[in-house]
Amino acid sequence: MASYLEELTDPIALKLKANCHNTRYPAGSYRVQPSGCIVTKLYPGHAERLRDFEVREDDIWIVSYPKCGTTWTQELVWMLASGLDYKGGKEVALNQRVPFFEIMTIGSLPPDVLEYFFKLVNSSQNGRRRIFKTHLPRDLLPKQIWTKNPKIIYVSRDPKDAALSYYHHHRLWSGYQGSQEEFLEAFLEDQVLYSPFWKHVLDFWELRTEPNILFNTYEEMKKDLPGVILKTADFLEVSIDMEQVQNLSNHLSFKNMKDNPAVNNEMFAEQERNGADDPNLTFIRQGESGAWKKSMSPEMAERFTQWTESKLKGTDYKIGVSS
Ligand code: PPS
Repeated sequence: MASYLEELTDPIALKLKANCHNTRYPAGSYRVQPSGCIVTKLYPGHAERLRDFEVREDDIWIVSYPKCGTTWTQELVWMLASGLDYKGGKEVALNQRVPFFEIMTIGSLPPDVLEYFFKLVNSSQNGRRRIFKTHLPRDLLPKQIWTKNPKIIYVSRDPKDAALSYYHHHRLWSGYQGSQEEFLEAFLEDQVLYSPFWKHVLDFWELRTEPNILFNTYEEMKKDLPGVILKTADFLEVSIDMEQVQNLSNHLSFKNMKDNPAVNNEMFAEQERNGADDPNLTFIRQGESGAWKKSMSPEMAERFTQWTESKLKGTDYKIGVSS
């Protein structure tokens, strides 16, 4: 079915948009129907190019709703696919090794930067297998994904933690100045960029047993990173011994990722922070599961619980569990 755009008119979406003061990283403007996914005003200019993008059978696609462990998975997958090239991984930033497929729809980037990203997305990186990060939901991925069947790794997270992380993300990148409660309200109402959350997750949950799809969760990465490394290596058909698993776990630890300039996006975050001294205004921020208990009001947490229960009715999905 052909897709079409609906302008966002819900007062909650309009308020969120009005509270985002950095025009470089705008909030959502449209819902793409029939998928229901919210996109920015930059999306329509690139939609066709993204849908018709030429996929390769040996591509690896990392797909997630924002703030669910994408960057963590990017570094994990690139390391496995590159034969654990720690040296190469330090020399080239992660956003160049594993480009953000639809970055041109997220930020108003200068033409030379845009051109650079177009080139990156279209080429293999140093002759290596292409690996992409995308937050596009199943229905908006390039059409050839479903004929070329590249390997896809989906990563999901407890929406309470993802929503709070997304709130701070909006503060950092979009200059969001509204309250946390208003943001969480917009999240629950599926009015934020890339929502609806549960459709995003469940569309891939349905496909989790396909041979080219691996479903991981942030919570399992926190609980048993070596186990997730082994499972992902097996999926990618990469052999790895236990000593290498230990070294990779160490490389991927929260502290090491936070301190690693090739992955932490600090250079860009620093520009957006404008000198503000706030530990929440960092890209690799807190790195915990269940941290919502410290900063979400009991009433809001209860609303998230009810919302989740209603969305998961009739499914066998359990938060944090990948199989
Ligand atoms: S984005 O912007 O959508 O690509 O963000 P994404 O990478 O999906 O998610 C960001 C959250 O992941 C946390 N993170 C980590 N947690 C634990 N260990 C490691 N190594 C790690 N790397 C990134 C990051 O801190 C964000 O979560 P919050 O809750 O905000 O800390």
